[in-house]
Amino acid sequence: MTTDVRIAVALDTADERRLVELATALAGEADVLKVGLEALTALGPRAIDLAARSAPVFCDLKLHDIPNTVAAAAAAAAAHGARMVTVHASGGPAMMSAAARAAPAVDVLAVTVLTSLDDAMLAELGMGAAGTVVPQLARLAIEAGAAGIVCAGHEVARVRDVVGGAATVVVPGVRPEGAAMQDQARVVTPRAAVDAGADMLVVGRPVTRADDPVAALRTIRRQIVEARSTEEA
Ligand code: C5P
Repeated sequence: MTTDVRIAVALDTADERRLVELATALAGEADVLKVGLEALTALGPRAIDLAARSAPVFCDLKLHDIPNTVAAAAAAAAAHGARMVTVHASGGPAMMSAAARAAPAVDVLAVTVLTSLDDAMLAELGMGAAGTVVPQLARLAIEAGAAGIVCAGHEVARVRDVVGGAATVVVPGVRPEGAAMQDQARVVTPRAAVDAGADMLVVGRPVTRADDPVAALRTIRRQIVEARSTEEA
């Protein structure tokens, strides 16, 4: 069962054995494996090497620092074999373009607003509502040379309007119908994310904490294929 929408499974674990077990089980099933702060902090760049044996690696570093530092970190992730690396769009255009220039072999993806933040929390932080801030950050990111945007499913349509068809739109906070939200505030179902125009879905715990991660991933893929075939019908 194939679609043009890719699924990245987030290997959020500090346990090397668990990471290898999941990566091995998901080889040929996940299009992309994402290693993030938990695995990278606990295991170092070895987490990238281990995941890369099974699938292309998305290195979710969420970099946010001065341009020189972010550029060097993006280049280091590329040297370790990452294919994608994230930066926070709120780090600004100079930071994002420095990362894109320093690591031309990887796709720099700009995180707009974390899917764990809702509008009430954004207001507490002194920020505008996601509906306003996300498209603004997305436009800045693409102008600065980012290859894609990470945003919540509800923002995909507005982001697409701003960034056009060429940019990759990545959606985390995906929950199959009936699944627990965990700490995510702005979740969508796989079907809703795909209907809105996402290119890549990031799914963590609904797969990695399932009794059978491969079966859980296949269920999500089936939901995507169904969404696609309804669109085409
Ligand atoms: O387990 P769950 O499906 O919630 O995992 C989502 C993954 O996507 C986590 O690795 C998290 O760091 C990442 N992510 C997110 N929201 C963003 C950007 C990345 O949840 N805006």
